[in-house]
Amino acid sequence: MRVLITGGNGYIGSHTCIELLAAGHAVTIVDNLSNSSPAVVERIARIAGRQPEFHQLDVRDAAGLERLFARQAFDALIHFAGVKAVAESVADPLKYYSNNVCGSALLFDAALRHGVTRLVFSSSATVYGEAARSPIGEDAPLAPANPYGRSKRMVEELLADLCRANPGLRAVALRYFNPVGAHPSGRVGEAPGGIPDNLMPYLCQVAVGRLPELTVFGNDYPTPDGTAIRDYIHVVDLAQGHLKAFDYLEREGGMHFINLGTGRGTSVLELLAAFERVNGVRIPHRMGARRPGDTTETYADAARAAQQLGWSTRLSLEDMCRDAWCWQKLNPAGYA
Ligand code: NAD
Ligand code: UFG
Repeated sequence: MRVLITGGNGYIGSHTCIELLAAGHAVTIVDNLSNSSPAVVERIARIAGRQPEFHQLDVRDAAGLERLFARQAFDALIHFAGVKAVAESVADPLKYYSNNVCGSALLFDAALRHGVTRLVFSSSATVYGEAARSPIGEDAPLAPANPYGRSKRMVEELLADLCRANPGLRAVALRYFNPVGAHPSGRVGEAPGGIPDNLMPYLCQVAVGRLPELTVFGNDYPTPDGTAIRDYIHVVDLAQGHLKAFDYLEREGGMHFINLGTGRGTSVLELLAAFERVNGVRIPHRMGARRPGDTTETYADAARAAQQLGWSTRLSLEDMCRDAWCWQKLNPAGYA
């Protein structure tokens, strides 16, 4: 297959390109480089041993998309491109509705007019909102609590409407839990600009000496060690889930919503301890206040992915910690 990947230079997109190329597919990347480096393309090619095609393009550039689709036919589309910072989405909602919702609508319009029938969309567990009880199944009530989450849910609904209106169209919205880790080569990984918001990249930057200490956001949660629980999933497992979603769309029509998580919860202190143990490093840390908007416990019911995609995670928390640290050590300043 020739697969169009939007946001292919980003964290999850780059790992998915590697898996697609390794499986023999041809890959075309579209990315506006707003949150990624042009250097990623060569890194992907070196690891996979095959070259992806790259176009610097914003998915809101309708004329640019038209030129791309007119030049080349695609069998499938994976749509990663978008913005993803919850706090920024509260301060600047239009950035989120423009990139994530308008961008998706323009992209799907071009894809449909040019005969693409298989779409995979990067959604998020954030569509479930704060009250959902873990393990969270796909039929749990949806209540995204911020503009980022609402933008993801809107695109899911847009896709479902498109599938209803176009019987030949097949789509999956994959709801990711907490992707962490990096390719085991240490040559691609997560490279957030500025001070990271998320736990694993923050922890890595403390370990490498770029940040002085980690603040644990709350140790008074009703959990065994008092810290909040999440479902951390290795980004390579997550990437492979996308290939399974393609296989599924060969067999099944219509619109599908599928969680990608391990189905296991890990607390902040458990992750910290695993990172120190596996990597033989000390992470200076202190207890701080809860972060507003954080949930106590969020982990997936991963049964639907197992049953429908035949996919479940293979990599452990130790693999996540080892590979994240390998990437950070080899690339202390990301791709810079
Ligand atoms: P990322 O920022 O590393 O990758 C996104 C890529 O899209 C970047 O390379 C960026 O330059 C590009 N991009 C952004 N807006 C664009 C636009 N308008 N046109 C073209 N390219 C654009 O993020 P990621 O962590 O790899 O996330 C990928 C997708 O997965 C996003 O849609 C995100 O919302 C979703 N997701 C991520 C997480 C997570 O924790 N990382 C969790 C759930 C869902
Ligand atoms: N945490 C700390 N210290 C830090 C950073 C995080 O203690 O410096 C804690 C958080 O309070 C939380 C846990 O580590 O308990 C994980 O936090 P992350 O920011 O890594 O992940 P979240 O689960 O909060 O957020 C993720 C995505 C969001 C998405 C959300 C819900 O990053 O984009 O899941 O699906 F909206």
